[in-house]
This record gives sequence, C-alpha cells and structure tokens, in this order.
Amino acid sequence: MSAPFIITLDGPAGVGKSTLARRLADHFEIAYLDTGAMFRATAWKLGKGAWDWKNETIEAALQNLEFTLSGSGSNSTLSLNGIALTNEIRTENVGMWASNMAKITAVRNFQKTAQRNIGTTTSLVAEGRDMGTVIFTQAPCKFFLDADLKERARRRFNQLEEMGKPAELDELIEQIKARDDQDRNRKVAPLKPAEDAIIVDTTKLDINGVFERLVSETEKKHL
Ligand code: DC
Repeated sequence: MSAPFIITLDGPAGVGKSTLARRLADHFEIAYLDTGAMFRATAWKLGKGAWDWKNETIEAALQNLEFTLSGSGSNSTLSLNGIALTNEIRTENVGMWASNMAKITAVRNFQKTAQRNIGTTTSLVAEGRDMGTVIFTQAPCKFFLDADLKERARRRFNQLEEMGKPAELDELIEQIKARDDQDRNRKVAPLKPAEDAIIVDTTKLDINGVFERLVSETEKKHL
C-alpha cells in the first residue's frame, strides 16, 4: 500500500479553510481532518477555564480523550470518545477557549500525536494552523490561505447564521482579531506559513477560483 497523501491547509479564522478543505477532500476522494474541531472539542470537554489548570491535571484529563476519523470527503466524521462532534463547538466563544488551550504545550503534544496517528493510515486534507509547519512537514502539497479581517468576519458571520447561531458582526471582528493575535503570537507552533507553502490571499477571490487553483497546484504534485 502506498503512503497516505496529505494536503495541508493552514490560515487564520474565517478564511474559508473548512469549505475548501471539504471540497478538496470530495474532489480527491480522501478524508478531511478539521484539527480546529479537535482543539474546540478538547476545550469543550475539559470546560471553561481548563487552560488555567495545573499541567498534571491537564495531562491526566487528556488521557481520557480519544479522537477518531471515519468516512471520506465532506462525509468525514470526527468523533471524540466514539461520539461524533456536533455544531455545539462552533461558536466564537468556544473558538477562543480552543485558542487558549492551544497555547499549552501538553495540549499541542497530545494533538500532534492524535493527528499524526490519523495521518499515518489515512490520506487527508488536513486543515488548521500548524499542519504544514509542525504536524505534516513531509506533506507534498501545502497551502496557506489569508484574507482581510473584515472579510473573514463577514464570512464567519454568514457561516454562523447558516448554522442557526447568529452573531453580531462588530463583535465577531473583535473576537476574531483577538483570537488571531493569540494564535499568531504564541510560543509553540504559532500560526504562520510553512516555508514551502503556497500562499493565497482570498480577500477578493471567489471560492470557486480558489478551489480551482488548489486543485491544479495539487495535481502538479502527481496525486
Ligand atoms: O480552525 P478553528 O477556528 O476551528 O480553530 C479553533 C482554535 O484552535 C484556533 O483559534 C487555534 C486552535 N488551533 C490550533 O492552535 N492549531 C490547529 N492546528 C487548529 C486549531
């Protein structure tokens, strides 16, 4: 059996990573790994304020968590302890909890092991903040997506509305800015493009155009 093929998709909140990752996974008939959802589910499960716990307490709690990925394309299902993740983790508040947890080395090490284990057996479109720089450094195809803060907040606003979780646009701009600043400036695995990543600014591009570009760049790598 040939080694799994990994496409990495990194970038800040609301840049369109999830939509594009799902479409790419459907197109290439491989699984979609939403690592942001893993951090969100971890924060949700441990609860608000867990980022202030003692290291040993966090490490002990992490031992009770097991992530699995099943299915393919946009039907890929990420589960925590056998239960599929739901939209409950999708609010901007839980996003900030996830960002707070994501600063902690023990949490990042735990996620690294879980994510690499999944990528050892499964071809993936892996979406997150450090997929190209830390987790799947060997991936032949790395993308870093970016867009203006206001445009990203507008996209997230629409996404939350579609999920039946409406938010205030101005508040979202503030929340996303705070979260990005924290993700870009943390000591461990900060959000940044890998040296060999293709950087795409999607502010003025329509999603279909970006998708076609990612497909053609991936095809050049002989998938
Ligand atoms: O992609 P998202 O908005 O669902 O991610 C939620 C938070 O999780 C994000 O603000 C930072 C953290 N995260 C991370 O540190 N590394 C990843 N690979 C994915 C997410």
